[in-house]
Amino acid sequence: MDAVKTKPAKSFNIDEIRKDFPILERTVHGKPLVYLDNAATSQKPQAVIDSHVDFYLNHNANIHRGVYQMSTESTDAYDESRTKVKEFINAPDSREIIFTRGTTESINLVSNTFGRFNVKSGDEIIVSTMEHHANIVPWQILCGEKNAMLRVIPINEKGELLMDEYKKLLNEKTKLVSVTHISNTLGTINPVKEIIELAHEKKIPVMIDGAQAVAHMRVDVRDLDCDFYAFSGHKMFGPTGIGVLYGKAEYLEAMPPYQGGGDMIRNVSFEKTTYGEIPTKFEAGTPNIAGSIGLGIAIDYLNKLDFNQIHEHEMKMLNYATNEMEKIEGVRIIGTAKNKASVISFIVEGINPMDLGIMLDTMGVAVRTGQHCTEPLMTWYCIPGTVRASFAMYNRMEEVDIFIKSLKKAISILK
Ligand code: ALA
Repeated sequence: MDAVKTKPAKSFNIDEIRKDFPILERTVHGKPLVYLDNAATSQKPQAVIDSHVDFYLNHNANIHRGVYQMSTESTDAYDESRTKVKEFINAPDSREIIFTRGTTESINLVSNTFGRFNVKSGDEIIVSTMEHHANIVPWQILCGEKNAMLRVIPINEKGELLMDEYKKLLNEKTKLVSVTHISNTLGTINPVKEIIELAHEKKIPVMIDGAQAVAHMRVDVRDLDCDFYAFSGHKMFGPTGIGVLYGKAEYLEAMPPYQGGGDMIRNVSFEKTTYGEIPTKFEAGTPNIAGSIGLGIAIDYLNKLDFNQIHEHEMKMLNYATNEMEKIEGVRIIGTAKNKASVISFIVEGINPMDLGIMLDTMGVAVRTGQHCTEPLMTWYCIPGTVRASFAMYNRMEEVDIFIKSLKKAISILK
């Protein structure tokens, strides 16, 4: 498919980058949009939007099923996208890349296949206190069915994992460790490489929830040596409804299928069905073809930028906002880990986070409020929820200033 080309972003120039994201120019309640809910979903560059239009205008056909030209074009673009994902995360083999609906489905796939196959009564699965519900509930369902146990790595007040406690949790009953790379609520960047090494010393496989990582750092699954890695397209400037499960071939090959249906089979009879090879064994039915192609275009876009520069810019915004917020009376930042991504969760004494979010919205500032799908973490901090500002590469320092000014104004109105 040749109609859509990713615009080169030559060097890290925020003005140039912002031109690629048309939505950032809109207004909200008559004010310029300041979009600080990037941990919930990121905005999309024009090239990703164009790729959807191009696919449905010019190429739409089902994949792996037709001998005609449009089906070949569609199949080639879908397969090419898988290769782009493989290269983006430095996976050894495209067969280890499974397209899913997103991180949630990737984790459910592993719990329903690897989990069902390997976990038995009395076994244990380790997660952490800061997990998103998507990395808690699938394991709880599995543990409930198998009479297994969910063990939880504790954290300190800053929102850092207690690694000594983690070491104590690892034992011969542990069947899997599944932890987040970056906490969506606290911004904590977890020492996943060390977590993986420690588990591997005891031959325990590790799954990493990378939903919050892939848009902010270069992820190298070979270097991490993780056994499974899950992420979503929509948090990395790609479309919604498409995500990835990376899994080591040795595990994927041994796992039973997740769903039954078209494309995932080799032979079907009423007596017996045999399954296809990985990755198609895990991709039953017509997949999100346009979404996977759009994800490939988002990867092309990110590949033209430099993750070191993205990181530097995001850290500047994080540090500046943190310093300014610490000066505001009544503000308490939740999550102050030493190694942190560009996420700031906070509460303000005497003000409901939801009221603050609504007031900020009237000023054009979009933030998330509530529990952020991490209710056990909120319970741990003994708070009902937070306001969360999360920055992405296209945010400007000027927007951080608007956020701080708006926050001060909102507090003065609501107090
Ligand atoms: N997981 C997303 C968030 O943190 C939706 O907001």
